[in-house]
Formats: sequence, structure tokens, C-alpha cells
Amino acid sequence: MSVLPIDKSIAQRCAVLGLDFDKSNIGEDIRNTVNAAEEFVGYKKDLTLNLGNSGTGMRLLTGYITGSGKECTLIGDESLSKRPMDRIAEPLKDWGADIELRNQKFSPIKIKSSNLQSDFTYELKIPSAQIKSCLLLAALSSKTKIEIIENIPTRDHTERMLEECEADIKREGNRIILDGKKDIVKKYIDIPGDFSSAAYLMAANILSAQTNQIENVGVNRTRVAFLEVLEEMGAMVMIKDHSVKSREPRANLVAFCKDELKGVKIDGDRVPNLIDEIPLIAVLAMFAKGKTIVRDAKELRYKESDRISLLLSNIKSFNPDMKVHEFDDGFELEPAADKNMGIVKIKTGGDHRMAMSFMVASLRSGKKVEFDDMECVETSFPGFFSLIEKWYQ
Ligand code: S3P
Repeated sequence: MSVLPIDKSIAQRCAVLGLDFDKSNIGEDIRNTVNAAEEFVGYKKDLTLNLGNSGTGMRLLTGYITGSGKECTLIGDESLSKRPMDRIAEPLKDWGADIELRNQKFSPIKIKSSNLQSDFTYELKIPSAQIKSCLLLAALSSKTKIEIIENIPTRDHTERMLEECEADIKREGNRIILDGKKDIVKKYIDIPGDFSSAAYLMAANILSAQTNQIENVGVNRTRVAFLEVLEEMGAMVMIKDHSVKSREPRANLVAFCKDELKGVKIDGDRVPNLIDEIPLIAVLAMFAKGKTIVRDAKELRYKESDRISLLLSNIKSFNPDMKVHEFDDGFELEPAADKNMGIVKIKTGGDHRMAMSFMVASLRSGKKVEFDDMECVETSFPGFFSLIEKWYQ
């Protein structure tokens, strides 16, 4: 069995669509979405679904449930209750849905019985695969037609899965057109390992000068800009045994670095393609030569934590000599030699990616790192800490 959990984005789309997949190695987010989707199948009046920490689960299910015309309430944990849901409620309301949010922005999401009008066109204002997928799933469950205009590409797992299941979906340039009148054919989906989880192991290889191969990693082109960033930073990446199953490409990956890492600039249209890897890139940048600049990434503030401010405060705790500058949409980081070998206390904000990024940082520095919450990694990568211990310590 691969050391990686299966892809969290793909698995949650399968869960909402009721498609079969191997559930033997899944994290809490996938589990919560599977449970919620199954509860919805056995629908009862006054149903409340708890999505825990999963923003993807909440946004995708909101679309699917709204399209079904049924009433339902969706709730989440403390972190999820602080994340913006107006980004999906607004287009759904423009389409004809009746949805109520707390303070017009947050969950609980109260979906009232709605009738979506047919032939809805929506231009994405935020480059978000979650918003795109929410609307595609609403079209499918309401059996209506949607045309989505996507000017900046985002991950396309929903489109691939719908194609695999023989939906009436096509792409024309930057337009995605789905006619939900045609039913999908439910198929078994072979899900590759999660690229965003593999990224921690690639970075761990680089920072600890190892060459472990990571097997069966999803390498969908809308997810892998991190590989290009690694190369720009001076690392090498080998992609082996490429294959495609259930329309999703996968490969074995080895990342390593023979020379010193270099700083990097990240901005523009490639940001959505590596949004989940940015905290990890910042950690690599702490050990690089030269400045790293990240811009056009305000979306980081709306993830499981405010990943701009929390990241920078943890970098300062890690090494107070690092020079950091915070922008509304990103940050600048100028690394400095580390003179302080004391214990570092990392504030995770309950954010799995914050915890995993700084665990990887500790491999290079040899510093002892303490986390206020280690459980949070269970949302995406169960067994992460023991795997790191086994492979790198
Ligand atoms: C996801 C899309 C991204 C990503 C999230 C999962 C998805 O969010 O950050 O972890 O499964 O569609 P946005 O599309 O909202 O940027």
C-alpha cells in the first residue's frame, strides 16, 4: 500500500456523487464528507449535516443539495465556521436558490427548498475549484444547464470525473458547459495518492538530502505547479512510471537537491495551481539563498487558518532573525542564519498544513519543534508524524 492518503479533492467529489472508491486509507475530511453524503441519501426532514473541518465537503455538498430541491442545514467545526460561504451562496441565489448564511457570510448554511432555473451562466470572480464544482454539482442534481466561465484555471477533477461518468459536459476554451439533464453512469473511481500530501515528503527529501521515491502520486496538470517551483528553487524532480486511471494521471516521484536552494517568486495565474503548497514553499524558502516573494495569494487568508499571518508569525518563532514582510495578498521572506537552537513552539491554528510544514522545517534545522495541536494532521494525512519519523529520523 502506498504511504500516501488518497487525493482529498477527488475523494470528496466521489463521495458527493455517490461513486465507489477505496476507503481504506482516508483522512477525517474525506470521512466527514462520505458520512454527510450518505446521511443525505437517507434523507429525513430537518436534516443537519456536520462537515467538521472540510471546506471542500461543505461547498460541494451545498451545491449538490441545493440542486436537489431539498431542505438541509450544513454545519462545521470552529475553523470551518469562520470561512467564507457567501462565495457559493451568492451565485446559487442568483440562479434561484433560497439559502441563508450566518451574518450573510458563514455557516451554518440553511438551504431551503429551491428550484434552480435552467440555463445559468456564471463567470468565476474568484479562481476557486470549490465554487466551480459547487455549481457543476448543483446543475447535475437539478438537471439544469450551466455554463461556467473560468478565466484563471483551477483544479479540474470534477470535470474529469463527470466525463468519466459520461455526463453531458464539454469544455470550449475557458468555458465549461454541463447539461445536468443527462444522468451520470456511476463508476468505480481509482484515486491516486494526494499530490498535496506528497509535497511534504518531497520537501522532506530536499531538506534532509534523501531520495525516497513516493509512489502513485496524482499528477493532474492543474495540481503540480509545485514541481516547477521546486526546480526554480534549484531542486530536481524525477517523474517515473506515468499512467492514467479514471481519467486522472499518476506517477512515482523523487525530489532531491544537490545544491543550495534559491529563493523564488510566485504570483499570477499559477497561484491556484499551488495554493495548498504555499506554506511549504515558505518553509523551503527559510533555508534558501535569497528572497522569496509570494503575491496574488489573498485566498490563503481564507483557508483552514489565515495562512499568511499565521505562517509569518511561525517563521519568526522558528528563527527570529528571518526578515518577513506581510502584504494583503502575500509576503516577502529574506532568510537568515539560525543562531537560536532553543525549542520552537508552533501555533497551528488547527491547520494541518501549518503543522506538516513546520515538521518538515525541523528536519533541516535539527531543532525540536512543539505543536499546540498534532491531531489536526488527521484531516488530510493520517500517520504523517510516524511516517516522517520512519523515513527521515
Ligand atoms: C480544493 C480547491 C482549493 C484547495 C482546497 C481543495 C478542491 O480551494 O485549496 O484544499 O477540492 O476543489 P479553492 O478552490 O477554494 O481555492
